[in-house]
Amino acid sequence: MSQKYVEKVLLTREEIQKRITELGAEISRDYAGQDLLLICVLKGAVIFLADLMRQISVPVEIDFMAVSSYGAATVSSGVVRILKDLDVSIENRHCLIVEDIIDTGLTLKYLEENLNSRQPASLKIVTLLDKPERRQVEIAPDYCGFQIPDEFVVGYGLDFDEKYRSLPDICVLGEK
Ligand code: IMP
Repeated sequence: MSQKYVEKVLLTREEIQKRITELGAEISRDYAGQDLLLICVLKGAVIFLADLMRQISVPVEIDFMAVSSYGAATVSSGVVRILKDLDVSIENRHCLIVEDIIDTGLTLKYLEENLNSRQPASLKIVTLLDKPERRQVEIAPDYCGFQIPDEFVVGYGLDFDEKYRSLPDICVLGEK
């Protein structure tokens, strides 16, 4: 039976914080004079949300959505289900989806369409990581922390089978 192990650090905690500071400044500039609702996609994006929101200077509120993920598998099934919906209405509000990683794009494509049907004033996407090589549907984030190669990563909120979320750095998961 193959075993997973942390192969190498791809992005250090310092690199992540530096980039989040830049993203926060960019978002604050773009939303100057407006209130913003950050929609965090559970569970992988919680650490990113916590760090990002503290770098945004316009007034923010937060809410959470949970959608079905891959479970123990590392490939997307393409099936998206809402496990937890937002608590608040987003009608006429400026919304920013906070995502950990865009892989095939299937999850975000579904979320974007679903949320757009609720008539927000605006809807944009910020993702910490993007694996553009793996895209199956057309979707481009408005703000992106890092583009990364096609490798399975864990840490800084990202998991494999619910493990490794608490690693402070973003690491590549290998198999032996
Ligand atoms: P997509 O629908 O294929 O774009 O998948 C997005 C979701 O898959 C993310 O929100 C993650 O939960 C998960 N995912 C995709 N790639 C990785 C990875 O490399 N590590 C951990 N989770 C991942």
